[in-house]
Amino acid sequence: MDDAGTTPSANRVALPREIQPGLRVCADAPGVARAAARQFVEFAWQFIAREKSFCVALAGGNTPRELYRLLATQDFRTQVDWAKVHLFWGDERAVPPEHPESNYGMARRELLVRVPIPAGNVHRMEADAPNLGRAAQEYEETLRRYLRLDANGFPRLHLILLGLGADGHTASLFPGARKLRDTLRWVSTPLHPQLRSRRMTLTLPVLNAAHQALFLVTGAEKAEALRAVLEGTSDPPLPAQLVTVPGGHREFLADEAAAALVIREASPVSRAPSRGRKSEGESPKERR
Ligand code: 6PG
Repeated sequence: MDDAGTTPSANRVALPREIQPGLRVCADAPGVARAAARQFVEFAWQFIAREKSFCVALAGGNTPRELYRLLATQDFRTQVDWAKVHLFWGDERAVPPEHPESNYGMARRELLVRVPIPAGNVHRMEADAPNLGRAAQEYEETLRRYLRLDANGFPRLHLILLGLGADGHTASLFPGARKLRDTLRWVSTPLHPQLRSRRMTLTLPVLNAAHQALFLVTGAEKAEALRAVLEGTSDPPLPAQLVTVPGGHREFLADEAAAALVIREASPVSRAPSRGRKSEGESPKERR
């Protein structure tokens, strides 16, 4: 962004388009990352102005990698008051930080080493601890230390970044998990259903206590899950479908490939008369 605050045409990218309330679609994965980076900066300004801090839970997996990389670039890094940002994680694998599967490790490589965030503001989930249960309790204490509680007594993050699995999981809340909804825990330690490896994750009530939940969803392999989550058709409901953020706002940022099935169903073409036949009573301007 140049001094005039305008975006040089070379960098001008198409803005996401809102397909339905809570779903904005970008042309491709880089577009999703850029829109998410803009949103991150906007929320940082908003919450730091309002509450003197910006407490964010980062998502794991591959999708957010490009977002973290972008946030570390000059364009975005300089727009955030990192001294007032506190970073948490939505979930973590039971591996050490230097392991290639570590969600913390990925964020560290792409973002943390490139922005001036104080080390004390980075709150890693120690899912590699020998006593995972105790580590989960300690993480609950960390959340209690930095976050205000909602009316139900759950910690309120300002922003939770989330991914979506092809099976409809989010964070490490997997389909069929016991006590997905009826838990008072803030942090749990589920077993990954396929990998049979341990995870540490924020629980559904904590995700739902957020001010803002932002899902980043890219790739054709997520299209079925995104449609099911948005339509709310699955029974039992998919974990991502249960993230409704009743006291805040939930948004999905998807690329065209991941949103393909939703776009097709939302498209006016699918409800318009068949091509070639002029609709009765419509003036040309209405046909836009
Ligand atoms: C994790 C994430 C998980 C992820 C989805 C999507 O630790 O893997 O928390 O919920 O967001 O599985 O993963 P991709 O972004 O790699 O598709």
